[in-house]
Amino acid sequence: MNPANNSIAAVFEFLKAELIPVYGEREAQSMAYQVMHSAFNVSRLDLITKADQKLSESQIVTSFKHRDQLLRGEPLQYILGSTMFYDLEIKVAPGVLIPRPETEELVAWFLSEAQENEDVWDIGTGSGCIALAIKKDKPSANVLASDSQNEALQIAKDNGQGLKLDVEFILHDILTDLPPKKSFTRIISNPPYILQEESKSMPQNVLDHEPHAALFTTTNDPLQFYRKITEVANDLLVSGGKLYFECHEEHALKVYEMVVEMGMKEVELRTDMQGKQRMLRASKV
Ligand SMILES: C[S@@+](CC[C@H](N)C(=O)[O-])C[C@H]1O[C@@H](n2cnc3c(N)ncnc32)[C@H](O)[C@@H]1O
Repeated sequence: MNPANNSIAAVFEFLKAELIPVYGEREAQSMAYQVMHSAFNVSRLDLITKADQKLSESQIVTSFKHRDQLLRGEPLQYILGSTMFYDLEIKVAPGVLIPRPETEELVAWFLSEAQENEDVWDIGTGSGCIALAIKKDKPSANVLASDSQNEALQIAKDNGQGLKLDVEFILHDILTDLPPKKSFTRIISNPPYILQEESKSMPQNVLDHEPHAALFTTTNDPLQFYRKITEVANDLLVSGGKLYFECHEEHALKVYEMVVEMGMKEVELRTDMQGKQRMLRASKV
């Protein structure tokens, strides 16, 4: 199918109609809006007030390209090159996990408890979304952010520079490298927590496009990263310092029990907006 003509309204309707069979009406409409906005700078209001305005030939070609990418299951955020996270425009590319709304909820919990002049470590920073949202809200915080993947770290650094937020990004493997020689008042992490065997029940577009190092544990232990990070937190947090985790809803209770067993206090699990147990906070004695 082709757009009826090159007008803004026709291209929007074309994109939507092409995407509906794969994504359903609501999702297709939302994607079509986002493509129009990010790729062609056409707002929702423009769709009404400038409906007959023409797009250029190259913009029409771009709309075909994005249609094909979306029909192949490529995530919209990778196609457009960015996503919004905690009111920040975060650059994303296939080497980095696309920040998720539930992670914003973890950041909101963290920020509701954070004071001035915190020393923070974000472990497994990916795009840098958590660290950058913290720095934006708490400019007095010293924020360190680490990841074992070079590609992710480069994107995180670009995001820091682009947003003019002074976060220290370092290449660091939490499972094998020695931790930094410093103490922290808060440690936060959304680590890999999916078992390889769970990949069968995952959406194909996530499996095909998002980095497996961001998704999967390297052993058959869903607590692999949580155990290691809690051990490090026990060493590096100041007394009264806090540890924040995003969890897999099915393993959250196990993470809770393990953190308690490892000596942390005031351990609390919270549910996300969808009612799933997904966040944990604990205090070092
Ligand atoms: C679930 S993603 C979270 C990314 C980002 N913090 C977010 O919330 O969108 C987990 C991140 O941990 C990183 N990672 C995987 N193994 C790691 C390791 N051994 N040490 C440090 N980071 C690791 C991945 O590269 C990925 O960026």
